[in-house]
Amino acid sequence: MTMRQSLRERLRVEHFNCLPNTPVLPLAVFGWAELLHEGLCTLATTAVCWDHKAIVAFVDDEPVGVLTWTDANWANEIWINLAYVSPEYRHQGIHTEMFDALKAKARELKRPTISSATHVSNDAARGAMRAQGREEVGTMLTYHVPAPAGD
Ligand SMILES: CC(C)(COP(=O)(O)OP(=O)(O)OC[C@H]1O[C@@H](n2cnc3c(N)ncnc32)[C@H](O)[C@@H]1OP(=O)(O)O)[C@@H](O)C(=O)NCCC(=O)NCCS
Repeated sequence: MTMRQSLRERLRVEHFNCLPNTPVLPLAVFGWAELLHEGLCTLATTAVCWDHKAIVAFVDDEPVGVLTWTDANWANEIWINLAYVSPEYRHQGIHTEMFDALKAKARELKRPTISSATHVSNDAARGAMRAQGREEVGTMLTYHVPAPAGD
């Protein structure tokens, strides 16, 4: 049995209606802080919010991954706010398991699309998303306003 197979047997993925009610809130905040620290998201990105729904991955009873989402019913789509897997559990299919659970939820809610955004330099996120068949459809542009001369 490979390491990935044995982990799969210990892995459980669960839906929660509200992120603050999950045991994974500290992990989500930590993940957001990691992205900010690495310059992979801006403070204007609300990656963690009280009304986000959450899919949590547990290995045995330890929360090791979180995917937060919003049902954007006005846009008829599901919007992913944050995906985070603890560094020691990466590359073992945990993000994929959480996304599969979200795909099932999208079918249940009859939402035809699931969208998200990530930094252009976030190779891990872009690789993981492409591996799931997600298509890159947009670009965000930032202008760095020059300081006036003499500042
Ligand atoms: C992005 C992230 C959630 C991926 O989680 P993960 O559980 O390691 O992903 P998976 O194991 O499900 O990966 C599935 C596939 O995605 C691709 N992938 C995963 N990590 C990758 C990386 N670092 N570089 C390129 N492709 C990658 C691979 O094709 C992988 O399949 P393989 O393992 O068979 O090669 C994780 O790296 C993470 O938490 N990063 C920090 C937070 C972050 O950047 N979040 C996204 C911003 S919103």
